[in-house]
Amino acid sequence: MLQGKKIVLGITGSIAAYKSCLIIRQLIKKGAEVQVVITPAGKEFITPITLSALTSKPVISEFFSQRDGTWHSHVDLGLWADAMLIAPATASTIGKMANGVADNMLITTYLSMKAPVFIAPAMDLDMYAHPSTQQNLKTLQSYGNHIIEPGTGFLASKLEGKGRMEEPENIVACLEQFFSRQESMKGKKVLITAGPTYEKIDPVRFIGNYSSGKMGFALANECANRGAQVELVCGPVSSSMQVKHPNIHRIDIESAKEMYEVCKEQYPLMDSTILCAAVADFAPETVADQKIKRTGDGMVIRLKPNPDIAASLGQMKKEGQTLVGFALETNDEESNAQAKLKKKNFDFIVLNSLKDKGAGFRTDTNKITIITADSKKEYPLKTKEEVSKDIVDELEAVIGQKAETR
Ligand code: CTP
Repeated sequence: MLQGKKIVLGITGSIAAYKSCLIIRQLIKKGAEVQVVITPAGKEFITPITLSALTSKPVISEFFSQRDGTWHSHVDLGLWADAMLIAPATASTIGKMANGVADNMLITTYLSMKAPVFIAPAMDLDMYAHPSTQQNLKTLQSYGNHIIEPGTGFLASKLEGKGRMEEPENIVACLEQFFSRQESMKGKKVLITAGPTYEKIDPVRFIGNYSSGKMGFALANECANRGAQVELVCGPVSSSMQVKHPNIHRIDIESAKEMYEVCKEQYPLMDSTILCAAVADFAPETVADQKIKRTGDGMVIRLKPNPDIAASLGQMKKEGQTLVGFALETNDEESNAQAKLKKKNFDFIVLNSLKDKGAGFRTDTNKITIITADSKKEYPLKTKEEVSKDIVDELEAVIGQKAETR
């Protein structure tokens, strides 16, 4: 998987810098080409001579090559690389990356990078646990960077024992896994619904719900990273929810009815559909033209049912198409999920229970159970990015099974 891959390895001023040698050795052994970019502090921990001997390339550290004044082009490096890995990444470098403080060659290279970026933090637990470091890591993750940490491999949901750099072989394994998945959905078209829907009461009020859209956006990124073309139909989400991947086409809607119209049109063109949106089941029967005034009496809003997008698409489903739904339950979770799976003709359903801490709306984490007609898989609490990998792995497995039986 790493054969012929071009990797820019950024090294920063941490005691774990010596482990970069092991990363380089493994990358080279697996056929990758490695270009080291080191920060001034990084050179205090490991010498460029060692690194250039291992990579067979001069190490880049300054903006200018000292001897002849030749300029090192961070833009060229950004175009050359298939991936950038920053290992070890100190709190300082992570902070500069998150805020665009381009005062060394590593940060300018990062800001010019066109390829996916992997970051392996290394610091003591206090620095790691500080809210500014945590915020910076979240910011970097929201920009589509991959944070590699001990334990789960990628960004973990708990702080205990964190800060230590992930072992070199696991870092290399994360890169390998990324490249192996990169093409796995190439040519596939995926429809994803995300976020809440708003059902208007009057010009300033609506009925909505707490869905943030994070799970749907994470799924869209994951499918796009694997080469799929994604139509992301999303309800009103915060302006901080942005998509960067060129494979994702975002369609913004507000109400369940608007989401239904778009989905009905897109669905026949799709190979797979993941319905992650928290769609309002009911909308006000009438929408007032003017802001409704307070009167002394109580008030009744009559509601009418919205279209059930999932059930309609389930009816339209053709051979070879895969349909995935979500269920958020508070009680009798599994039997409710099983009933929905059948009723809506899903291939599998992703169940979250509001009983589980860290699952559901407005969190960065989720704990899921994947249910098919004849199987059930429970997963531990993970970040929504990690959860999206498990869901898309299952989706790919189902697509594979369908292809085999045809
Ligand atoms: N869903 C949908 N359109 C709707 C309602 C739900 O597409 N109008 C989808 C959701 O995106 C989710 C799945 O259906 O994938 C389950 O949603 P849920 O609201 O839990 O299902 P309901 O059938 O509304 O069940 P209930 O309200 O009885 O729990």
